[in-house]
This record gives sequence, C-alpha cells and structure tokens, in this order.
Amino acid sequence: MIDLVIPDKTHDEERQGEALMLEPAEGKNSGRKLYIESYGCAMNFSDSEIVASILQESGFETTKDYNNADVVFINTCSIRENAEQRVRNRLKEFTIAKVKNPGMIVGVLGCMAERLKSKFLEEEKLVDVVVGPDAYRDLPNLIDTADGGQKAVNVLLSREETYADINPVRLNSNGINAFVSIMRGCDNMCSFCVVPFTRGRERSREPQSIVKECTDLFKAGYRELTLLGQNVDSYKWSKPHPALSKGEGSDVLAGEVLSSGEDLGEALTTFANLLEMVALISPELRVRFSTSHPKDITDEVLHTMAKYDNICNYIHLPVQSGNSRVLDLMNRTYDREWYMERVDAIRRIIPGCAISTDIITGFCTETEEEHQETLSMMDYVQYDFAYMFMYSERPGTLAAKRYADDIPEAVKSRRLQEVIAKQQQYSHVRLLKEIGQVQRVLIEGFSKKSDKDYAGRSDKNAMVIFPVDERFKPGMYVDVVVERCTTATLIGKIVS
Ligand code: SAH
Ligand code: SF4
Ligand code: F3S
Repeated sequence: MIDLVIPDKTHDEERQGEALMLEPAEGKNSGRKLYIESYGCAMNFSDSEIVASILQESGFETTKDYNNADVVFINTCSIRENAEQRVRNRLKEFTIAKVKNPGMIVGVLGCMAERLKSKFLEEEKLVDVVVGPDAYRDLPNLIDTADGGQKAVNVLLSREETYADINPVRLNSNGINAFVSIMRGCDNMCSFCVVPFTRGRERSREPQSIVKECTDLFKAGYRELTLLGQNVDSYKWSKPHPALSKGEGSDVLAGEVLSSGEDLGEALTTFANLLEMVALISPELRVRFSTSHPKDITDEVLHTMAKYDNICNYIHLPVQSGNSRVLDLMNRTYDREWYMERVDAIRRIIPGCAISTDIITGFCTETEEEHQETLSMMDYVQYDFAYMFMYSERPGTLAAKRYADDIPEAVKSRRLQEVIAKQQQYSHVRLLKEIGQVQRVLIEGFSKKSDKDYAGRSDKNAMVIFPVDERFKPGMYVDVVVERCTTATLIGKIVS
C-alpha cells in the first residue's frame, strides 16, 4: 500500500502530523532517534524535510513512535488560534513520554516558535528547544545545548536563507508527488495574517538550484512537483540567467530557453520563466504551484501555463472576501473588479482551468451585505474547490492593532456555513460536468478504501478513482473516462 500525499492542501492546519523516516548517517548523534511531526501549510511539511536532512547529516535516524525518541520535534502553525491550540494539546501528550524518559528533548519548530519565541519556554515547561523557520541549520548546536541541560532558542529571521543547497529527504512520500520550495517569507502584510511575522521577509531561491532539485526528483521517478511560495507570482531572481552559466542541472533547459526567444542577457528570472524552466525538464513531469496572489498573477504566467501541457490547469487564487471595502481593510491591494478581471483573464487564456480559493468570513466590521458579495463572487467564479475559515484575530497583526474583532462568533460561523454550503454546491457541479469526459490521470497509488482501485488526480486537480489494471503502475499516466462522481471524487475506468 502506497501512502498518498495531498500536495495541494497548502492551507489546512487540520491536517494530521506526519512522522518522517530516514536512514541514519555517521555522526556524533549516530544511533539517536528523531521523531518529527508537522502541522500547517505545505511549506511547513517541506521544511520538515529540510530539518530531517540536516539532522540526518549529524547522525540521527528516525522513529515513528515518539515514546522511544531521543528528540521529539513538532513543526508548528500559527495561522489561526485553533492551529496553535492543537499544538498545545499535542504537547500535553508528549508530557507523559517525557516523564518516562527525562533525557528526551522536546523541540518546537516553525511559525509558533517564531511568534512566541522564548515565551514558549515559560508557557510550556516540557519544551527544551525553540527554533524559528530560518534557523534550522543551527539545530545540531541547539540539540547539543539541550543535551547539556540548558534550554536553547534560535528564532533569528534571515533575509537570505533559502536552504537552496540542502537536499530535502523525501520521506513518507509516495515517490511520485513532491513539494519544492521556491521562495520563503512574505512582504505583503495582509492585515489579518501572521505569516510575515513568522516567516520574515520575502526572498526567492536561486533558480538553478530549483531546476536541479526538480531534475533530480524527475530522475528519481517523481512525476508531479508543486512549486511552493506564499506568493509565487512575486518570485524574482536577478542574477545572470542560469542557462547562461550552463552549470549542473541547467543542461536540460539551456537550448530550449534560448529557442523561446527570451533575451538571456536580461538578469531577471520571473515566475513565468521559472515555470517554463521546470516544465521543460520533461513533458512527463507535471508541474503545479501555490499560492497565486490575485494582485500579482500576470498574463505572462497564464500564457506559459497555456503553452505547456504539463503545467497543470489549476490555479489557487485566494479571494478572501468578495467586497472591495473589506479587501481594502484586509490590505489585499486589489478590489472586487480587479479580482474578477483576473478570473476573466484565466478563463480567456486557459479555457477550462480549475480555480480554487480561500475565504475568510466575519472579518472586522464585515456587514451582511458585504458577506453577500462574497457569496455572489462565488457565483461569479464557481470555484472548483475552496478552503473556508472564520476570521481568527492573531496577536501583532495590523488588523489586531487597528480594528475591533467585532463580528460575534455565531455570526462568523453562520456566514461560514453559508459559504461552505454554496461551495459544496459548486464543487459538485464542477465534478458533474466531468462525467462522460476523458481525463489524463497520474496514478499516485491505491485508493484509500481498496487496493483493487487506483487513485490519482486529473490535470485540474480532481481526485479520480478507477479499477486497477496491472499494465499500469503508480507514476504512469492513464486516460480515464469518468462515469460518475461522489461529492468530492470522480469515479471511472481506464480507456487507454
Ligand atoms: N499566501 C497565501 C495565504 C497563506 S495563509 C495568500 O496570500 O493567499 C492561508 C489562508 O489562511 C489565507 O489565504 C487565509 O484565507 C487564511 N487565513 C490567514 N490568516 C487568517 C486569520 N487570521 N483568520 C482566518 N483565516 C486566516
Ligand atoms: Fe499572509 Fe497575505 Fe502573505 Fe498570504 S500574501 S502569506 S495572506 S500576508
Ligand atoms: Fe504555513 Fe501556518 Fe506558518 S500556514 S507559513 S505554517 S503560520
């Protein structure tokens, strides 16, 4: 049975933590056992693979059972209050293991570590190590300090760190889908959002290291990569174009990028350029990306998507609200009309492209009429999928400082239910439209319910289930005719 990953779930702090397994290496921690689990967005999961890589270098091996671990790490999310509460509850569960094994080191990584810093040590007595997202290279030293009986904290944020040279360990993976981090941090300062405080300033990763990682993944059998950033459209790298330097990893693209008519004398690599570079690795490699910011998504990116069949026709374009006044208070820097125009451009340039979104209900001062505009935006776009949340005030954000969190919980919740009900309707309508159509599906493994069925996703990111045919293995593409659907899944059979 092959584990399935859900690489598009970039926003779901409800996701279960996951334990990573890695092979030990020689080093001063040789034989010591690490347990790590992750919460939050795909970037946190991707970071855990970097952490695992760093600790593998220093000799750690992993265990899936925290009870026999020497080091227990929890990679945390701060996006909403309930995300933090889940981590605190989980930490309580680690307390018993630590009583049994007092030498065990408990570390908190990620966004909550960055937000709370050394306060964490006061609030959660069992925690020994607190490490922010830009300080993972320091982990072996911090573990040393904790071994010596002292608490250790490193929450320094960096303007440069992209971990570009670290080869993440792909563990607990199905060997087919992987995340590739292309940038870190965020400069946008949406008023509700804690990310700029927990992840620091936006910085892009050097493109050649990205293409090399993607090429290596392809050679290792991976067939679908998701390029990750909080705002991928603001990716930029202003060193000489990698095709000029002809270094390792750029061999696949040098000729092709030249033939695309691009002026290689230009120093800037945009997200559209990067997307093209990754798409050119092989037509057999599917490329996805997340997240697109409505203010920044360019026609250039849309044309690049239209040009390459292996760039999936799926865009995650969080709207947050359908009302221009609320969007202004949120500091999203676009309005309702701008967003609709971007959706029109997607429909024009990439007909049939799937679009998903994020929606927040009950943001400060949101009126009933303004909430109705979110619902009417949903009617306009008819999203394929949505992540929907009640507004949760986060300490230190612009909204927390400037605006009262004045919408009662019951109203937030009722509005959320209305948004969810509408989305369920459109998600189903979208799936119904696929019945009778043939979808190209990348087989990811067996379905969760039965190993008589394969599961994979369509280009538009819909989950498709179909009977196993021994001629086809996970990692291969098949054409599947859709015969019926449930509320969230297409069901069909292989036609080629
Ligand atoms: N960078 C992405 C979003 C990352 S956070 C973007 O700009 O679109 C993922 C989602 O969490 C956001 O899109 C938003 O819908 C939600 N979110 C962020 N802060 C929140 C808060 N304080 N309360 C409720 N939802 C929030
Ligand atoms: Fe948060 Fe806005 Fe940055 Fe997204 S773009 S991470 S919502 S500040
Ligand atoms: Fe991601 Fe949560 Fe941090 S959504 S960036 S892990 S606050």
